[in-house]
Amino acid sequence: QQAYDDIVDDFYAFADELATDLEIQPIPMSALEGVNITSKSNETDWYDGPSLMDYLETVPVGDRRLNTPFRMPVQWVNRPNLDFRGFSGQIAAGSIQPGDRVKSMPSGKQSTVQRIVTATGDLEQAIAGQSVTITLDDEIDCSRGDVLVSAEDPSEVSDQFQARLLWMSETPLLPGRRYLLKMGAKTVTATVNAPKYGIDVNTLNDVPAKTLELNQIGVTTLSLDQAIPYDPYDVNREMGGFILIDRMTNDTVGLGLVDFALRRASNIHWQAMDVDRSALAEQKGQKPAVLWFTGLSGSGKSTIANALQKLLFAQGKHTFTLDGDNVRHGLNRDLGFTDADRVENIRRVANVARLMSDAGLITLVSFISPFRSERQMARNLMADGEFIEVYVDTPLSVAEDRDVKGLYKKARAGEIKNFTGIDSPYEPPQAPELRIDTVNNSPEEAAEVILGFMREKGLLNGG
Ligand code: ADX
Repeated sequence: QQAYDDIVDDFYAFADELATDLEIQPIPMSALEGVNITSKSNETDWYDGPSLMDYLETVPVGDRRLNTPFRMPVQWVNRPNLDFRGFSGQIAAGSIQPGDRVKSMPSGKQSTVQRIVTATGDLEQAIAGQSVTITLDDEIDCSRGDVLVSAEDPSEVSDQFQARLLWMSETPLLPGRRYLLKMGAKTVTATVNAPKYGIDVNTLNDVPAKTLELNQIGVTTLSLDQAIPYDPYDVNREMGGFILIDRMTNDTVGLGLVDFALRRASNIHWQAMDVDRSALAEQKGQKPAVLWFTGLSGSGKSTIANALQKLLFAQGKHTFTLDGDNVRHGLNRDLGFTDADRVENIRRVANVARLMSDAGLITLVSFISPFRSERQMARNLMADGEFIEVYVDTPLSVAEDRDVKGLYKKARAGEIKNFTGIDSPYEPPQAPELRIDTVNNSPEEAAEVILGFMREKGLLNGG
């Protein structure tokens, strides 16, 4: 009895910190001896609660989804002919009847429920858990991934959240990388920012965390590429729970619970300028472009970028070169060479390159940029046709032989950790616009090849 009482006391103390409204029923049991499983045992005459089976058979199981406002993520739009347009899905919360006003989120357009159609006939009411097809009075904008919600009590829409995250992958979270976020029937792209803090599951205390490793829990903010309807997880599990998927491997790498949307999402607006990017480019008489040089350290990126910049300059083009070694002295001097730091390094420089191309410049970016995912992110930031990936394809053995900066020697001697190609990965581009062979071409020849490519694509014409 003493051992049991101690365990119960400990458990209550722990549970108090989790939440105040938990219903807890401690039962002293022995599976081996069959104590208090199917019926009360006389071995525990000091215990006057139920046996496990008594408890399970009588505990009230309220479905709290029923007492929350109506929500139905639209799984697909059912349109067999022009006279019928139904929205099919499983009701995630609340209930619905013909005549109820609903909104389609994120558009916010309103209509009235006409019919609730099922395989076995129309319903007068449908509740959480049921799969139905709903038809509406009006032809409102609503497609797969949108959510039908109660018009009186609609969900909110946001593209920035604070969330609790459980990391489930051997590869740690890379803050700044873009993952797929799937919530309900909707999948969007999300950037996970560095955690604010981790949570120690044994003590429930906050602990410092720069990333999240396998099975670690932390609190972080996320930015989505588009606004989605949601409810906080504490209000609605279906509408506030999500998974994160790695875009390259398609593995589920994290589980998340939405705490709340960030206000800044609605308070920061894009400022439209009258002197816009096309005016700025036109003034310079050119088309903006980003030439993204990627390759191993010492592969020749900066040398070729330098040669190309000279050719462009001679033609009167307005250019600027962002070089890893230089940018790491200023903007990025807080970053090292861990995977996470490289992701952030590229996120920042890609955004700077985007600003420079908005300013009308031809921007040359010379960074190892070892990960496909971040190069893709950079590509997505730029306007169509403005991103030119130049793979400076120098084999490791050649770069190491040249060892212009003497860094390979140090890396081999163990004096530099996480060196690209030695003990840190380089993921070669699969479909770069240009591949430069530096074994058989001089930097000047390489620059001519790139210039030829730009000419061919019309990038050297006026703005
Ligand atoms: S990136 O991987 O984050 O894109 P970046 O291009 O900014 O790298 O910086 C690479 C340069 O930093 C190299 O050319 C080299 O001079 C220097 N460097 C110092 N340590 C390392 C390292 N561990 N790995 C790669 N480059 C390093």
